Amino acid sequence: MTDDAQQSGPSIATMPRGGHQASWLDRRLQTDELEYLDRDDAPDEVKQNIIGMLDRLGARMNLHEQNARIALDVVSDIPDPRILELGAGHGKLSGKILDLHSSATVTISDLDPTSVNAIATGELGNHPRARTQRIDATAIDAADDSYDLVVFAQAFHHLPPTTAARAIAEATRVGSRFLVIDLQRLPSWALLAFSVLRQPLRLAVLPSASLRPLLHDGYISALRAYSRTALETLADAAGPAIRTRFLPSPPGPGPRSFTAVFSRQDPSHSQ
Ligand SMILES: C[S@@+](CC[C@H](N)C(=O)[O-])C[C@H]1O[C@@H](n2cnc3c(N)ncnc32)[C@H](O)[C@@H]1O
Repeated sequence: MTDDAQQSGPSIATMPRGGHQASWLDRRLQTDELEYLDRDDAPDEVKQNIIGMLDRLGARMNLHEQNARIALDVVSDIPDPRILELGAGHGKLSGKILDLHSSATVTISDLDPTSVNAIATGELGNHPRARTQRIDATAIDAADDSYDLVVFAQAFHHLPPTTAARAIAEATRVGSRFLVIDLQRLPSWALLAFSVLRQPLRLAVLPSASLRPLLHDGYISALRAYSRTALETLADAAGPAIRTRFLPSPPGPGPRSFTAVFSRQDPSHSQ
């Protein structure tokens, strides 16, 4: 963790997910409630069930490949890119990177040891250009400049503001570029509609024990998603030399995502 992130202190800790300028309504449409994936008391079976569904949804909507292409585009100037995936869950984004690029190497990581173990003992665990490691995005166990790209997909909203700023500081310490692909914060009216519809939706999926946790985590994710201005504030808190660049949002079905690339602008780190 950098001094910059440490010094960001209270104003970042209390920043609304919609940013300091968020409206009265938007500030009420957020939550500190944790997703099952973040709860120590949630059974592994429930967490792995959610990860499995995210994998199947991502495959059906072609998100794994779409995200892998975005990641490879960000390092298209580097012949043999070294890539670290944080919060990989099922690891399919890294798998697609390996399919699409013949010399990229990937470190596939997650905070959750069960997910890391599942990836390590699966097909990807034997890939000659892949390795697996348990890594906390907010305290990355790697030397400075170990990677050309760090990528974190559909997971940044899991981190509260202070730790999110620390993750930006950490990822731009170990990597030249930090690509974050995550849910766009919805307008207040849409969040409000989601809140109103949550109960009927819960009743609708009640018979499906496997869908309920996904709906639960999806709702919390929407409330915890950061706005663009909040992301810029987090980058400033992570360090004055950090630049934020937003790429066009990928088209297609499914929840709208933002794509941001953070990079450190100092002589020892190239863009
Ligand atoms: C919603 S899942 C996304 C999985 C996958 N990246 C995808 O796109 O489907 C969020 C993942 O972030 C991981 N995660 C949460 N907090 C983390 C942290 N501090 N460091 C690393 N991973 C974290 C969770 O364990 C989970 O696997």
